[in-house]
Amino acid sequence: MTTKQDLISGLNEDLAAEWGTIIRYTHQAAKSFGPMGAELRAMFQREVLDELGHASFLNDVIVDLGGEPATTPKQSPKAAGVRAMLELDLEMELLDVANYQERARQAEDLGEAELKVKLEEMAADEAGHARELRRLLKGV
Ligand SMILES: [Fe+2]
Ligand SMILES: [Fe+2]
Repeated sequence: MTTKQDLISGLNEDLAAEWGTIIRYTHQAAKSFGPMGAELRAMFQREVLDELGHASFLNDVIVDLGGEPATTPKQSPKAAGVRAMLELDLEMELLDVANYQERARQAEDLGEAELKVKLEEMAADEAGHARELRRLLKGV
């Protein structure tokens, strides 16, 4: 049985992951060179806005539920080279999809219907990011 505290803790892990992604994508945008540099840079700069929207929403929800939003980013390893970078990002995006799906189930357990739908939409956003990364990986 999911408790409200379980949901708050989970949402805070998701928020820490979003902060980590925002830092990683901003860093990677600056380190995107070579033939695909411009396309990669544009993709990271575009997607970081989605992640900032997710982080902002999670902050509001955690406060609304009576929790304290996390401000410490989840650390992720630094990847050397374009392929390793995109593979790491793909792995992280797929993890985010699974986590938001789990969080949506927890929200449903607690009767939080609107939150469940929003979390499913966020899982769909991350799945879209994963698809874009798979496409870019075909070119490296
Ligand atoms: Fe996100
Ligand atoms: Fe994402």
